[in-house]
Amino acid sequence: MRGLTSGMDARLGGVRAPQARDLVIMAHCVRIERYEITVYSLALRLARKLDMGHESVVLDWILAQEMAAARGLEALEPVLFQLAEKGGRKK
Ligand SMILES: [Fe+2]
Repeated sequence: MRGLTSGMDARLGGVRAPQARDLVIMAHCVRIERYEITVYSLALRLARKLDMGHESVVLDWILAQEMAAARGLEALEPVLFQLAEKGGRKK
């Protein structure tokens, strides 16, 4: 996780346009959510395999939250793409 966030800091260093910065931040947030989905999915499958009922319920709930967060971020894509296009045309 630290590597994912430090990657974002490094990429933002050279980006000046606010719209482009928003896109970089969003892309990294989606990347983090996808990472979390992968990790929680694995943990959930393991908990189910080991018949860990309570843990499975909790992990399933967390996984649903992570998936909702990823969908929410992805829903912003069209707006950010429009802003980036408008920003690019001003040059
Ligand atoms: Fe998350």
